[in-house]
Amino acid sequence: MDRIRAPYSPGAGEPPPALVGRAQKLDDMDVALQRRQLGRSAKSVMLTGLRGVGKTVLLNEFGKTARTHGYYHEHIEVDESVDFPSVLAFTVRRLLLRFSAAQRMGERIQRALGVLKAFSVQWPNGPTFSADVHSVLGPADSGDLATDLAGLLCELGEAAQAIGVGVFLTIDQIQYLARPELSALMVSLHRATQLGLPVVVAGAGLPSLPALLGDAKSYAERMFDFAEIGSLSPTESAEAILRPAAQEGVLWQPAAVDFVVDLTRGYPYFLQAFSKQAWDMANGPTEISRSDVDASVAFTLAELDSGFFRVRISRTTDAERTYLRAMAVLGPGPYQTSEVASFLGKTVQQVGFVRNSLLKRGICYAPRWGQVAFTVPMFDGFLRRWLNVADEI
Ligand SMILES: Nc1ncnc2c1ncn2[C@@H]1O[C@H](COP(=O)(O)OP(=O)(O)OP(=O)(O)O)[C@@H](O)[C@H]1O
Ligand SMILES: [Mg+2]
Repeated sequence: MDRIRAPYSPGAGEPPPALVGRAQKLDDMDVALQRRQLGRSAKSVMLTGLRGVGKTVLLNEFGKTARTHGYYHEHIEVDESVDFPSVLAFTVRRLLLRFSAAQRMGERIQRALGVLKAFSVQWPNGPTFSADVHSVLGPADSGDLATDLAGLLCELGEAAQAIGVGVFLTIDQIQYLARPELSALMVSLHRATQLGLPVVVAGAGLPSLPALLGDAKSYAERMFDFAEIGSLSPTESAEAILRPAAQEGVLWQPAAVDFVVDLTRGYPYFLQAFSKQAWDMANGPTEISRSDVDASVAFTLAELDSGFFRVRISRTTDAERTYLRAMAVLGPGPYQTSEVASFLGKTVQQVGFVRNSLLKRGICYAPRWGQVAFTVPMFDGFLRRWLNVADEI
């Protein structure tokens, strides 16, 4: 019999991996979206967690839920070099054009486009507008980022309200926003909420995010429900392995499942990677055995090392690599910054700038004051494997 392809292996036609263990979070979002739709108060959501735990997958699910409730959904992915005002301007433009395509509310939407045009003069690199859109000066062109973002978001919310729809924005990798941009986003959302406008935001970022919010934090806690996304429990992990396979009529031997759960410690990205490789290498046709997993482990690790892990250090400086190497040699972490510094024969201050740049680039985060940890699960193991291959990393 032909081998059946794993539903979670790359390629066309396969169903997405099972979404396990996030029912409560989805439910909370669902309730918040419905509350807001009824004009009641509802907090936006901020997901935080290590790399590969399933933040983006969950944001996408939120988006689907929002669409079923009639929200207009747009997704923004931030990166290290993002020009946030212009990205937001493009997003608002897309939404307004979608409104106008669906509704006969020309005047209201023309006005919002006019506000956006004025915003885009003040905050360049955004969309351009034809001459028949007339700038509306005042709400969003003062030159103060928080005021202007708030003006723009409220204008969008009012246009949405006028036509009886809601707006749902998902913002991924939000830790890359600069602090003024983050606080401008908070202020804007606060303003829109005060006015009872139908705008809901769900963000996702690394565990560094609450600390990055700094001064804006207590404000942020009022605006957002912070939800930590972590690894799956052993039972959930087993389900994440078994369910997609079962949909294709394939069973895993219990010993094979236990081994993958152990190896991955329940981290979703690793669960998927190990399961997929075992699937690809198994003799099948309807069972995956412990020996199939044994045979596939080295391949999965090699794949992770050259992809998922390697990409994190690919653009690091020598000084950053030396710091990361010291962390890895000290074990899995979290580490005291004093411990890393003394391992390197330096003071905390002398290596402070390296640590800060690793934090800024999202490779590390500070779980507590005076501590540092990897944002990538099991990164210490990768670095140690890597060190065995080459003394210099
Ligand atoms: N709840 C889940 N159940 C089963 N598998 C999951 C779950 N969440 C995520 N996965 C798997 O883990 C992979 C990584 O998820 P995702 O890309 O959402 O992580 P992330 O937290 O956004 O990572 P990053 O911080 O690097 O952006 C997904 O492609 C999916 O295969
Ligand atoms: Mg992601």
